[in-house]
Amino acid sequence: MGEEAKTAVLMKEERIFEPPKELVDQSNVKAWMDKKGFKTEKELREWCSTNYEEFWGEMANDFADWEKPFDKVLDWQPPYAKWFVGGKINMTYNCLDRHVKTWRRNKVAYIAVGEPVDDVRLFTYWDLYRETNKLANALKGMGVEKGDRVSIYLPMIPELSIAMLACAKIGAIHSVVFSGFSAKAYGDRVKDGESKVSITCDGFWRRGKTVPLKAQADEGIADAPSILKQIVYKRTGQDVPWNEGVDVWWHDAVEGQSATCDPVFVDSEDRLYILYTSGTTGKPKGIEHAQGGYCVGPPQTLSWVFDLKEDDVWWCAADIGWVTGHSYIVYAPLSLGATGVMYEGSPDFPDIGRWWKIIQDYGVTVLYTSPTAIRMFMRAGGEWPAKYDLSSLRLLGSVGEPINPEAWIWYRKNIGADKLQIMDTWWQTETGTFINSPLPITPLKPGSCAFALPGYSCEVMDEKGTVVPFGEGGNVVITEPYPSMLRAFYKDPDRYMKTYWEYYWENHPGYYLAGDKARRDDDGYFFIQGRMDDVLNVAGHRIGNSEVESACVSFPDVAEAACIGKPDEVKGEVIIAFCALNAGVVGTDELKTAIYKHVGKELSKIAAPSEIHFVADVPKTRSGKIMRRIIKAKAMGKDPGDTSTLANPEAVDAIPTIV
Ligand code: WT7
Repeated sequence: MGEEAKTAVLMKEERIFEPPKELVDQSNVKAWMDKKGFKTEKELREWCSTNYEEFWGEMANDFADWEKPFDKVLDWQPPYAKWFVGGKINMTYNCLDRHVKTWRRNKVAYIAVGEPVDDVRLFTYWDLYRETNKLANALKGMGVEKGDRVSIYLPMIPELSIAMLACAKIGAIHSVVFSGFSAKAYGDRVKDGESKVSITCDGFWRRGKTVPLKAQADEGIADAPSILKQIVYKRTGQDVPWNEGVDVWWHDAVEGQSATCDPVFVDSEDRLYILYTSGTTGKPKGIEHAQGGYCVGPPQTLSWVFDLKEDDVWWCAADIGWVTGHSYIVYAPLSLGATGVMYEGSPDFPDIGRWWKIIQDYGVTVLYTSPTAIRMFMRAGGEWPAKYDLSSLRLLGSVGEPINPEAWIWYRKNIGADKLQIMDTWWQTETGTFINSPLPITPLKPGSCAFALPGYSCEVMDEKGTVVPFGEGGNVVITEPYPSMLRAFYKDPDRYMKTYWEYYWENHPGYYLAGDKARRDDDGYFFIQGRMDDVLNVAGHRIGNSEVESACVSFPDVAEAACIGKPDEVKGEVIIAFCALNAGVVGTDELKTAIYKHVGKELSKIAAPSEIHFVADVPKTRSGKIMRRIIKAKAMGKDPGDTSTLANPEAVDAIPTIV
């Protein structure tokens, strides 16, 4: 194996957490296994992934209602897949219309918790259905047709889901932009997508203050000629600038509209949405997802991995502005007819116990969040969750980055009463659904996302496309197509080819390069080591930045850590760690020595940082990714570039220049 693909294997996780028998016996996946006569998890995963066309054909009929059945499960012409060929379907029909024909009509779809305490709205399926139809009719009235793009810039309020569902109902393609992004970021995405309509709101609540979203939206669309109308939902009631002729209040737009709207049944391959995600260059890539695949993959994975039952209260605490929210706050749970919590605000408002109060107040049963959130709660201390009754919880989840075993154990202990299983789901904006993940029947290893799910095929490979032996590191590669996979980059086929498929094209057309490094342990468990470009090389040893960070964070006083490589004449690179400490801990030289020794012990002396700097906070994106490139630029005395899309741009200023 070439040096490029090799990653040092330093961490060993020995602990195994067996799933409780009660969880296994009642699980959705076990019921399917019993029906099919599968005895073991291995048998299940292998059969479904080997016979994936047959498997997905069955899932497509189990999880979705088709207006016209498909003729063929898959047409795969790498790098382009067509799923459920010839089928006609509508995502919103699957999320709403089919439920309101049943007893679920008055089931709660969303418990919408606003940031202001006591600002709670309940939306039944019937409510969502009627509001969605009215907005869909309003959009039609503005000239929006099948295939047209609509940009949506809204915070975490149910109107965001309604706006997406209204687009999907009439076959329009939504392009949601995270409400924390800047006016410029919004404008760039509106212009790239040539959207006809912009949907926003006056403002929203964040840490007790209002964010003037409408003003930002206006700035963004100021030079976007494609925009005909902007729909403005009134959330805070604050004053807003107003453009006569373009702006329309949401309540005026839906006034007098019919509460019924026939779904536009589209071809399975017609697009559902575009979502922009950042790549290696500055220009965001518009990832395209298809309607048919989305009607199948998200609900199927949510049902099997998080085991949703009719009476569960699901809380995916991500933002709908990310793929996590698209799939697992909007499309998957609604398609399953589930009840979900949606929270508008900051986790520390009015205090850091807010999430635990929400779980207590609404009896949340399944919680899905990110390692960065968990570490933030860890830092605040276990006494916060301990104040609340979290006994309704029955299953936990994690997504977004490798979860360090320290945070995993804290999560299980403090939130999961020392007994709940944690589903660590590895996936991407591009994949639309979880790819690697435990199931409720899987014995867990902290820090591992287990194996490829049934129906998916994922390997760790060297740069020639050969599977590396267990224990060795390599590239994460998805080797077979699956229904929810991306279909294209909006208006950029060359970059689509270059980014994912070119790497293995010569020997293996159709192998998808995910851009992550991983290793599998002796039992085949995947341990994701971080992005391909986030790998250090110290004296010839390839070490994942996240491995060192994980070791730093496993020191009791360290809350968060970011590690970068600094060029070194002798070693090639040395490791510089920026550590944020737990509240009340003073950063002394003794503490630095102790952390240094600890990392040396946890990982290897080679991996111990040569310098440790204490910082108040570690710069990260809003989805919780540590921004090592920006940290590195600042530390090396270079221009860190645009930091406005970070969750905490001020943390960049606090990074010392070390050269
Ligand atoms: C990248 C995708 C998928 C929803 C949120 C992020 C990292 C994601 C895990 C995990 C280790 C993870 C990977 C991946 N990642 N989940 N469970 N363990 N790493 O979506 O912004 O498209 O980012 O996030 O590096 O490639 P995204």
